[in-house]
Amino acid sequence: MKVLAFAASVRRGSFNRKLIALAARIAREEQSEVDLADFRDFSMPIYDGDLEEEQGLPEGALELKQRVEWADALIISTPEYNFSIAGPLKNAFDWVSRARPMPWRGKSVYLMSASPSPMGGIRGLWQTRIPFEGCGALVFPDMFALPHANTAFTKSGELAESRMAERLHMELVGFLRLAEAVSRICGKAVPPRERTRRSQIAAALEEQTAIQSGSA
Ligand code: FNR
Repeated sequence: MKVLAFAASVRRGSFNRKLIALAARIAREEQSEVDLADFRDFSMPIYDGDLEEEQGLPEGALELKQRVEWADALIISTPEYNFSIAGPLKNAFDWVSRARPMPWRGKSVYLMSASPSPMGGIRGLWQTRIPFEGCGALVFPDMFALPHANTAFTKSGELAESRMAERLHMELVGFLRLAEAVSRICGKAVPPRERTRRSQIAAALEEQTAIQSGSA
C-alpha cells in the first residue's frame, strides 16, 4: 500500500517531524511503500482566487496534489495552533481541494500531533478532521497526540515512554490494515490517464454549467 507521510511544520527542530519519521518507519516495517515528504516541498502562497484563475495551482500545491493522488493513505503529524488546525496545513489543504477530481476524496488518513503542552495538540486534531472529512477522506477514529514533546524523544528519536510507543504502534498497524481494506474495496489510486479523462469531463461540465447560467 502506498502511504504519503508528512509533518505540517517547516521548523528545523520540529517535534512533528520527529514523530512522522517514527510513523513512517513503522509503516515501512508493515510493508507499506512510504513517501516521507518534507513540508517545504509544498511551499505555496496564501490561497488567492485571482491567482488560481490566472495561473491555476501554484507549484507547491501541484506537488502536494500529485503526491496525494499517488497515495492510498496519508499519515500527517501536525502542530496545534491556537487550539485549532495549523494555518499552513489548512492553506495547503484548501489549494489542493480546488483540483478535480477532488484529490482528498477516498483517502484514508491517520492524524497525529506533537506539542510541548500537556494536551499534545489533540484539540487541533479534532479541528483538522473537519476539512478532510468534508472533502471525502476517511479519517481513522483514533488520533495520536504526543504531550510534552520536548522531552518525549530519546536521543535516537524513539519515544521515551514505552506505553506511548506501544500505543503508536498498535494504532498505526490498525490504521494501515483498515486503509488496505478500504483501498482494496474502493479501488487503487486513479491512474494518470483516467485522471486526465475525469478532469476533462469535469471541465466540460463546468463549461456547460457556465453557459446555462449565462456567465460564459
Ligand atoms: C503554538 N503552540 C501551541 N501548542 C499547543 O499545544 N496548543 C496551542 O494552541 C498552540 N498554539 C500555538 C500557536 C502558534 C502560532 C505557535 C507558533 C505555537 C506551540 C506548538 O505546539 C509548538 O510550537 C510546537 O513545537 C510546534 O510544532 P513543531 O514545529 O515542533 O512540529
